[in-house]
Amino acid sequence: MKHNNLNIAHISDLHLNSFYSESNYEKIEFILNFIRKKNVDHLVVTGDIVDNASSLDLQSIRELFEKYNLLDSTKLSVVAGNHDIFGSAQTAEDLLQFPDRCSKTDYDAKLSEFILTFRETFDDCIYTSKNGFFPYAKMINNNLIIGLNSVARFSVIKNPFASNGEINGEQLSELHSILKDYRNEAKNIILLVHHHFYKPKNRKGLTFSGLWQNVEKRTMKLRKKKRIINLLNKFQVDLVLHGHVHEEADYEKRNIHFLNAGASIKGLKGKQLLINFIEISGKQINTSTHKIKFEKSGDRRDDNENHYKHEKEFEESEIF
Ligand SMILES: [Fe+2]
Repeated sequence: MKHNNLNIAHISDLHLNSFYSESNYEKIEFILNFIRKKNVDHLVVTGDIVDNASSLDLQSIRELFEKYNLLDSTKLSVVAGNHDIFGSAQTAEDLLQFPDRCSKTDYDAKLSEFILTFRETFDDCIYTSKNGFFPYAKMINNNLIIGLNSVARFSVIKNPFASNGEINGEQLSELHSILKDYRNEAKNIILLVHHHFYKPKNRKGLTFSGLWQNVEKRTMKLRKKKRIINLLNKFQVDLVLHGHVHEEADYEKRNIHFLNAGASIKGLKGKQLLINFIEISGKQINTSTHKIKFEKSGDRRDDNENHYKHEKEFEESEIF
């Protein structure tokens, strides 16, 4: 790795779910295999790694990361998503019961399980919060990577489907200290968080997954966005990587660049997988989105890759 340079691959919302036939396991492995062939130093996964908060699925994904030699703080960074803590409704009937299930979920125990599953990735951090590991910060080749936990706790009124996001006051004040202490030292600052900072459009169609995503979209807001964006702007955070909404998005707010990889596995097109690549060279950050076609078996041919520079096609939405 050349001094100050860093090549990052960013994926999100893997939704591993061994209970259902469409487990996503093969797609996840396909993506990891693709990334392995690229010149990537560090992989970032911004939450919803498993779909239904299952311990078995967390273990499976741990074993998969282990197989690809990724269980190392310098090679992998993860943050939790709402599905890693609360799971999701699997059927239309489940939807009605889901708030009750969320109310009975032991948030702290599930977050600890998530951290324990990926424990090696929290090693050698220059900062790890005493309040449940988030925020954490690691310096890789003079680039600062900060991970936040944006999964809000369940609330009957404010968060009945447990998909809303919140960065609590303690995390914000710790984030402030990290940025103050390391802004000058770090060439670039990259923030990892599960929730998005824009207003997504509703999905058309009446499939259950479309319905569930529309329910989620109405209940998946990140609270106090403006306050967080002000803080990121003050310390000139260079890039925010996130997921949560299953679509690609590349946008800017207050001079901060945001990239969504929520469509890595569950994009609108079934066989299309998505990976963001971030190439850092000194102060220069170049991002690009790769779309690859998933093939169940056999070798993928290079012409299946549709690599293109991200254009600012995403409509700028309101500033929260
Ligand atoms: Fe999510």
